[in-house]
Amino acid sequence: MSCVVLGVTAGIAAYKAVEVARQLVSKGITVKVIMTEKARHLVGPSTFRAVTGNPVAVSLFDDPGSPMKHISLAREADVVVVAPATANLLAKMAHGLADDLLSTTLLATRAPVVVAPAMNAAMYRHPATQENLRKLRERGIMVVGPEEGFLACGEEGEGRMSEPSRIVDAVLAFLRGGRQLEGKRVLVTAGGTREPFDPVRYVGNRSSGKMGFALAEVASRRGAEVHLVSAPTALEPPQGVDLIKVETAEQMREEVMRLAPEMDVVVMAAAVADYTPERFSVEKIKKEGQEELVIRLRRTPDILQELLERRRGGQIIVGFAAETGDLKEKALSKIRSKKVDLLVANDVTRPGCGFGSDHNQALLVFRDGRMRETDLMPKEDLAALIWDEIARMLGSADDSSS
Ligand code: CTP
Repeated sequence: MSCVVLGVTAGIAAYKAVEVARQLVSKGITVKVIMTEKARHLVGPSTFRAVTGNPVAVSLFDDPGSPMKHISLAREADVVVVAPATANLLAKMAHGLADDLLSTTLLATRAPVVVAPAMNAAMYRHPATQENLRKLRERGIMVVGPEEGFLACGEEGEGRMSEPSRIVDAVLAFLRGGRQLEGKRVLVTAGGTREPFDPVRYVGNRSSGKMGFALAEVASRRGAEVHLVSAPTALEPPQGVDLIKVETAEQMREEVMRLAPEMDVVVMAAAVADYTPERFSVEKIKKEGQEELVIRLRRTPDILQELLERRRGGQIIVGFAAETGDLKEKALSKIRSKKVDLLVANDVTRPGCGFGSDHNQALLVFRDGRMRETDLMPKEDLAALIWDEIARMLGSADDSSS
């Protein structure tokens, strides 16, 4: 059974932590609560005791039978979540301070940590808090929220703790994936390449890069060293990921080929242009005297094909296929010609999925012809499901080589 240590600090939102505990318990998870001294003034430990069925820890010294409470809780935890996390707690974490049971446990644990900040908007916006949060994110700590809304101080703004269900979802994502990709090196490509034909124009496609970024983020959270080769997107780079920006198919090929020999997994989620303009005009093309403009295109290098030809033993290669029409038949014929380990095919004309959407539904086709059709789900959940499948393949590759 999974164990979550829930840290509760003295924010008004502490009452919402009871709901976080309740939702986790309802999923069959063991929840152990650590409250700070001051948090006890806001919610009574007996409420958490009743909801979780476990004693609530407050002080380093209140259990004579367990003088190393911080170490035992730190080891027991599969995930540590702090909700609400005050500005003070975030500052302590950022600087490695350990002066009570919660901060000591946070310093001692090797489990993934999720924090849900809650504070007054001015405190949240203060450069000190922002810098602390940036440091924590860089260390791989997951920060959920805060959200905008009415704050307990009577002001309106950013600083409200996220809803319990959002915090619980973040914890569950960690519990599902654990650190299954620890020690693995992965390369993910994302976005749609741009093929310029003059200094201001290009031939492009409608890929947003969201699927590739979600794949990179989930892999990083699960412990992989992640290299993300991305064509232009409007997205924030995921935390802890080595982002390499490219524009054209040719530039993407170069970066992918440079990195691939060292990688355990390569996921080609990018929408790579199949054609690029034959000529590039150094000067902007003018329309005067031209009723028509003809741009001849030539084929780009097929990166996935080259990867497959140069694949090293045990390397897992995943391809994507954006299709319209009969998905099963097209996906099967594609995996016969491109012998990837896994092909993630989706019908981009289906409402609610595909380009630009936050959701996707896919048909996963494996090298042996096995298929798995997924539900329509957030791209992050689909990314988690794809990594579950890849981790399984990596597991069997490790088993056969040992
Ligand atoms: N891909 C690639 N290099 C290209 C084009 C595509 O590596 N020049 C990769 C994509 O990242 C994706 C997969 O190949 O993983 C898509 O396969 P492909 O057969 O090229 O699909 P389409 O481009 O959709 O091909 P077609 O239009 O012929 O169906």
